Amino acid sequence: MSRADLADLWWKNALVYCLDIETFLDWNGDGVGDIEGLVERIDYLAGIGVSCLWLMPVHPSPNRDDGYDVTDYYGIDERLGTLGDFVVLLRTAKDRGLRVIMDLVVNHTSDKHPWFRAARSSPTNKYRDYYVWRDTPPRTKKADIVFPDAEDSLWAYDERAGQWYLHHFYSHQPDLNLANPKVREEIKRVAGFWLELGVDGFRVDAVPFLVEDCGADLDPHGFFKELRSFISRRRGDALLLGEVNLPPKDLVKFFGHDPGDELQMLFAFPVMQRLHLALARGDARPLARALRAMPEIPSECQWAQFVRNHDELTLDQLTDRERQDVFDAFGPDEDMQLFGRGLRRRLPSMLGGDERRIRLAYSLLLTLPGTPVIFYGEEIGMAENLAIPGRMSVRTPMQWTDQRNGGFSPVAPSRVVRPCPDGRFSPMAVNVAQQRRDPESMLNWFERMIRRRRETAELGAGRLTVLDCGDDSVLGHVVERDGVRILAVHNLSDEPRTVKLRIGSTEGCEVSDLLDGGPVPDFDLKLDGYGYRWIRIQPSDVRTAP
Ligand code: GLC
Repeated sequence: MSRADLADLWWKNALVYCLDIETFLDWNGDGVGDIEGLVERIDYLAGIGVSCLWLMPVHPSPNRDDGYDVTDYYGIDERLGTLGDFVVLLRTAKDRGLRVIMDLVVNHTSDKHPWFRAARSSPTNKYRDYYVWRDTPPRTKKADIVFPDAEDSLWAYDERAGQWYLHHFYSHQPDLNLANPKVREEIKRVAGFWLELGVDGFRVDAVPFLVEDCGADLDPHGFFKELRSFISRRRGDALLLGEVNLPPKDLVKFFGHDPGDELQMLFAFPVMQRLHLALARGDARPLARALRAMPEIPSECQWAQFVRNHDELTLDQLTDRERQDVFDAFGPDEDMQLFGRGLRRRLPSMLGGDERRIRLAYSLLLTLPGTPVIFYGEEIGMAENLAIPGRMSVRTPMQWTDQRNGGFSPVAPSRVVRPCPDGRFSPMAVNVAQQRRDPESMLNWFERMIRRRRETAELGAGRLTVLDCGDDSVLGHVVERDGVRILAVHNLSDEPRTVKLRIGSTEGCEVSDLLDGGPVPDFDLKLDGYGYRWIRIQPSDVRTAP
């Protein structure tokens, strides 16, 4: 693929930032974040090097699953603002060079959606087949239940309808019937509407569930091909980023065929889970194995790498023993764990606030082959508030200042959408304003690292080799593209290490340290405890960023 082709595939070298407008900045002073607040902070995001925003659901919703229960796909929840405000947001983002993608939540609707209200009213209603009904519910396997704290079956009986309906998530989220061509038309209409307004693509929610249990009439991959082809017709460079938490061999199927005719980008869940195992054990091998096990992907596709997201840190692909090691290290209290498979914490608190270790983890994230996706507040080291139940513990207000509610909202703390944490990670200790003034802060470090990452496009589009470092605590990997090699070395232990790396010939090459700019005389590399190095090895005639 030529440089020009690559430049078109913007998602190959993006920095994606996920946020929920509801918790970002409350501009009108009602305790809830709003679009106007986000518009106000677009320059902040552009300034740290974010190139694409991922907005969590913005639609009208009874809000029983933080907006992942939609009642109107064409609207904006009035608590956040208006459609007019949304267009101002898109325009402002575009003006500052930021793309915007939004959650497309079409596995299910809210049970208050007009389609479901109509569907349940009579078996002959034209919306009946928008959902999946049975006279007798098939047996539910325990392992298939996503929210075991609230549900014990994937089927719920509806008195009005006199039948059972499918719901992979909460029972107030009935699954749409993708086998029905009319439903597929509706989804395309919705996507087309937002593309026309100017969004750059979608984070597709709950991908595998969308096409499960819809019967023999539905070819699961057929649907994603259909969606992708529709979207590309409307906007050639629109992105579909899929949430698919499956092992590598099943995951990769959702890219489709070369150059990629389904979802262009998928979260690398298998890598993320082993990254936490490696950090917990101070042993790079689980991560090295996970990286080696990731299959080749179609040329236009990409992995989305992440450390944390808005949900629980799921560890469901680990063995019981491995998961227990992560629990012991990062969330020993039962209250920190969720559904027996995950942790409801953010990274800094899991790592005991040790900034060296936190930076190591994010340095790793930024060098993993793929596109980094960060969750708001990660750039300043925000932690969770365990006093908030369930998964919402990590969805606290953005901490802008050391003032009331972290400068998120002027209202009394009792009226704010969710409370900030107290103690060590409270806004008094962790906030944007303070960190801006400190050149060594997490925020300024992140900004420099993001800048370097974006200048090092090879990391997003090169071929990965995991090196043998001769030391279990150290991960060394090389990403190569067009003769340029980027070497990243990370020490997962708190003890200094020296590793001898064999990276092949460097004759006729310039070798430079990408972070401190210093010389790299040989590849006997010294690393501090939790130390990391990024090194570029390139033919002398190649020109790059200074
Ligand atoms: C996805 C979202 C999660 C939501 C669920 C149901 O897994 O990440 O937050 O609750 O889908 O829409």
